[in-house]
Amino acid sequence: MQKQRIASADPLDDHRDWRQSDWASDVDDGWFWQLIRGRRSVRRYLPDPVERPLLEQLLTAAIWAPSAHNRQPWRFCVVTTDQTKQALSDRMGARWRSDLSADGVDEAIIERRVRISHARITGAPALVAVSLSLEGMDDYPDPRRQEAEWLMAVQSTALSCQNLLLAAHRYGLAACWMCAPLFVPDLVRDVLDLPESWHPQALITLGYAAEEKQRERLPLAERVTWR
Ligand SMILES: Cc1cc2nc3c(=O)[nH]c(=O)nc-3n(C[C@H](O)[C@H](O)[C@H](O)COP(=O)(O)O)c2cc1C
Repeated sequence: MQKQRIASADPLDDHRDWRQSDWASDVDDGWFWQLIRGRRSVRRYLPDPVERPLLEQLLTAAIWAPSAHNRQPWRFCVVTTDQTKQALSDRMGARWRSDLSADGVDEAIIERRVRISHARITGAPALVAVSLSLEGMDDYPDPRRQEAEWLMAVQSTALSCQNLLLAAHRYGLAACWMCAPLFVPDLVRDVLDLPESWHPQALITLGYAAEEKQRERLPLAERVTWR
């Protein structure tokens, strides 16, 4: 598969079918809908490395996300070395294997799942391990408000990930969000030698696409209520 960049000749640019209404029909928003609707979670990548300036561009998009009180709780660790990818995948795989085993999942299924996950992590030219830090966030004496503050940090960090995913798509890269670090935060912190104050939230795999993906969404009416 060829590396792709968004071009005006892209058939996906014909966004008229993508709109829910003609409300903004005089606005030249084809690029916008291509960006929003053309992004897909892609899990297999070409071996081509992703250049550091491009990764920095994506991270710059990430840090321009809105955040609660503009405290920017996101933290990123970029992994491009095979050794670290391997270590991360091996350690996460071992833990996943033992969790699934304890759940009574069939051994063959466990091996298959772990193998797929390993291929995805080690086969991605770049990984961004996304964490959040509460440093700089407000501190409350009671759990109710402290929990809301934590949630705001999670929400802000998730928004930075969405910016990163959209930027990846804009620059012709493919990406996928993996939630695995949420289940093994200590392990991720240990392998990547992250500060204690970083709470791993996600792993974003990045590279040039080696597969094409299609996804649909449910109609607005199934997810929106008007009052
Ligand atoms: C919070 C979150 C966690 C996700 N975790 C995983 C994951 O662990 N593995 C995976 O393959 N995809 C994961 N995804 C990607 C979703 O499966 C994907 O976004 C969804 O199927 C819609 O497909 P699309 O992104 O191509 O529109 C995650 C996405 C989000 C937002």
